[in-house]
Amino acid sequence: MITKHLAAGCLALAGILTINFKTSAQTDGAAPVAVAKVKLETGNLAPTPPMGWNTWNTFQTKIDEPLLKGMVDAYVSSGMKDAGYRYFVLDDGWMMMERDTKGYLVADPKKFPNGMKAFADYVHNKGLKFGIYNCAGNKTCAGYPGSRGHEYQDARLYASWGVDFLKYDWCNTDSLNAREAYITMSSALKETGRPIVFSLCEWGNHKPWLWAKGVGELYRTTGDITANFSQDKHMGTWTASSVMTILDKQPAIRQYNGPNHWNDADMLEVGNGMSYAEDKAHFSMWCMLSAPLAAGNDLRNMSEQTKSILTNKEVVAIDQDVLGIAAYKIPMADSVEVWVKPLKNNEVAVCFLNRSNHAQKLNIKWGDLTVEDKTTGLNLKLANGTYTLRDLWLKKSSGTTKGNFKQDIASHDVLMLKMVKQ
Ligand code: GLA
Repeated sequence: MITKHLAAGCLALAGILTINFKTSAQTDGAAPVAVAKVKLETGNLAPTPPMGWNTWNTFQTKIDEPLLKGMVDAYVSSGMKDAGYRYFVLDDGWMMMERDTKGYLVADPKKFPNGMKAFADYVHNKGLKFGIYNCAGNKTCAGYPGSRGHEYQDARLYASWGVDFLKYDWCNTDSLNAREAYITMSSALKETGRPIVFSLCEWGNHKPWLWAKGVGELYRTTGDITANFSQDKHMGTWTASSVMTILDKQPAIRQYNGPNHWNDADMLEVGNGMSYAEDKAHFSMWCMLSAPLAAGNDLRNMSEQTKSILTNKEVVAIDQDVLGIAAYKIPMADSVEVWVKPLKNNEVAVCFLNRSNHAQKLNIKWGDLTVEDKTTGLNLKLANGTYTLRDLWLKKSSGTTKGNFKQDIASHDVLMLKMVKQ
């Protein structure tokens, strides 16, 4: 058991270690890449991180119209739509293995007997937006026809179906130049005249945070997620990343995150096998990062706990804060981290994350703590006033920053607070 004090501008950890709290995130020191001048127009399709649901994490390519219509219905009846989720995205596996004789993609008629336009209409009629998937390479990751050489033709087809969101993958791309390949598809989408959110999925291989602003609205920063808190999963030729592995890659690129250009930490695994605490921690941290929120669980049979995580509007509001600033991390002892996220109106979200395998006791003296975020220029000076504390998971007040703050955090769990000046 370690008592932690958070006071007088520093974290004093059981007398062992003191960390200056006046800190700001460092960059990853990435060497600047030579970027050719291309006129990129930034629209306003994603002023806050896109929220939605995607087929992949639970169903992979085993999707069809009856299953998905049920999911659309559950999207609405479960409260996901009411909580702010909007996009319904078909990932890999929706099409035939070959294009038609004119080069058009064809929705698999066994899976979508009424065609893709009819399914898109079904989604739209429920007040949701419709997303689809393809790949910059010759084939998608699951072996279906990719868009290479058909970018404008595919974009026109999607627009004719009423597509609102395109996830664009990076399998089978050989020696393609990533930035150029994504600009080609981005231009093709813009040419259709239909507003289509463009979601780049090249796994962070070519540092899209340095060049994707204006090309698309969100870009994956890592390889694929797996539903495990801290253990990566070996998949033969590649390794799926645990929630903590993905989280650890985010601080170095946080300064690139913002409205209409979001660092994508991959889809959510909430409800897909981790513990309640782990799911809560995963969701909290994605919200602290202002990451896109793409649920990936079966919405038709969500447990009450899963639903209470995904639809916690106060936590979702942290993700959707209009400033779009990703949190930064202050390490503490015993694998407890403090993440701090500046919000609009000088409010602040603070999230304590217990990564250790045992419960921890927090004893925090807020005192005259100063949190200075050099990246954004926003400061939090507790010396200038008292802040109220609201526990966003318990949905109740937790006092103010005047007194001591004592609370246990279970293993792999979080304590997520919103601080508002009195
Ligand atoms: C890649 C992507 C995943 C998913 C699959 C589909 O692995 O990173 O998110 O789209 O392809 O095949």
